Amino acid sequence: MENIRLLLVDDEDNFRETLAKRLQKRGVTPQQAADGLACLSLLADHSIDVVVLDVKMPGLSGIEVLQHIKDKYPRTEVILLTGHASTPDGVEGIKSGAFDYLAKPIELEHLLSKIKQAYEKIQRAAQAQKEAEYRAKMEQQMIATERLASLGTLATGVAHEINNPLAIITESAGWLKLLLQKKELENMPRKADFAKALDKIDGAVERARRITHQLLGVVKQPDSAGAQINLGELAEEAVQLVHREAANKGIEIQQEIERSRSNVWSDPYQLRQVLLNLLTNAIHATDAGGRITLELEDRGEQIVLRVQDTGKGISKENLERVFDPFFSTKPPGEGTGLGLFVTRGIVQKLGGEIEVKSQIGRGTRFDIKLPKHREIKAELDERATASWIEKIKSRLREKSKGEEAP
Ligand SMILES: Nc1ncnc2c1ncn2[C@@H]1O[C@H](COP(=O)(O)OP(=O)(O)OP(=O)(O)O)[C@@H](O)[C@H]1O
Ligand SMILES: [Mg+2]
Repeated sequence: MENIRLLLVDDEDNFRETLAKRLQKRGVTPQQAADGLACLSLLADHSIDVVVLDVKMPGLSGIEVLQHIKDKYPRTEVILLTGHASTPDGVEGIKSGAFDYLAKPIELEHLLSKIKQAYEKIQRAAQAQKEAEYRAKMEQQMIATERLASLGTLATGVAHEINNPLAIITESAGWLKLLLQKKELENMPRKADFAKALDKIDGAVERARRITHQLLGVVKQPDSAGAQINLGELAEEAVQLVHREAANKGIEIQQEIERSRSNVWSDPYQLRQVLLNLLTNAIHATDAGGRITLELEDRGEQIVLRVQDTGKGISKENLERVFDPFFSTKPPGEGTGLGLFVTRGIVQKLGGEIEVKSQIGRGTRFDIKLPKHREIKAELDERATASWIEKIKSRLREKSKGEEAP
């Protein structure tokens, strides 16, 4: 009740001030207004939960003020104070949206309990709205996830289909290159042009292959390659792989990893791809003198992998799109725009989440939260296997005893 923002509107100063004092003694400090206009101008500047409003006032009547309040501030609740034996005013007030009405003279307890009820109604409405907003947000997220999932299915399907013709193109181009070296074509006209065109084909095939390679990374089932991995070792290995590229650009890569506590049950191949994607992105976005930090945080149930850079950052509008397939800000021909799409696909498949925070000009941070529960599952599997082995052993022992017996 102390938090309630109350406004008392009555033209009888004595009555209003006395009531305000009595309310204050009970822990509610109301604001005051002496007429309808003062009430409305106060409402324009302050958020008010409950208005206790006299009906009979000079100028704007209480009912008119009530109608205005309900029109402009529908969430504010109004309790009307009517004169003795003027029930019709109260009834009209209810029709116009008042929470309730009380006849003067007022009984303080009665008024307090009405104010409390009105406040509870407001809180219930606020809670319901919060829930509705949350539901709407979840629905939107689901739609976005489904959209990406179906795009992913389509993309991986296409990638599979394209791998075969790619193989044929590469093979045929290679064969043509061999032909060009044959003696019978030694003096072939425009031979150099042919060779150049064949190199171009090679380059384009290589690019297409990078795309299909990235895309197919998403389809691999994590369960098919589950293993107990030390994320610290994996991270070190990934850093080794990109170390030279970073050093060439004058970027330092820092590792803050506690090796002993970084075991997860996951897919090493896919996690390596995740790390490589994030590290290369960070290298591309960072200038000489910049720093990339790879951090590992053990949160008990979860392990958090964090790749942070001091690079150019991502704009707010792009931040929503970086996980979209084929979204890239790199010059045409340089980025596939699949790195983060694939990365997110993998992380989600491994039961984790990926989050990005970025500030233009200051840097970007990717957090990957991975569950460790697979570790527990693995342990259980191991224990199950161990007890199974024990059973077989004891059965064998019994059997051999049996054989010795006769
Ligand atoms: N660390 C980062 N800092 C700034 N921008 C980033 C960072 N990581 C990703 N981005 C932005 O997100 C876009 C998409 O990244 P994604 O890895 O999916 O594709 P790409 O890096 O453009 O292409 P590829 O991965 O094939 O090289 C990038 O083009 C870049 O604009
Ligand atoms: Mg990338």
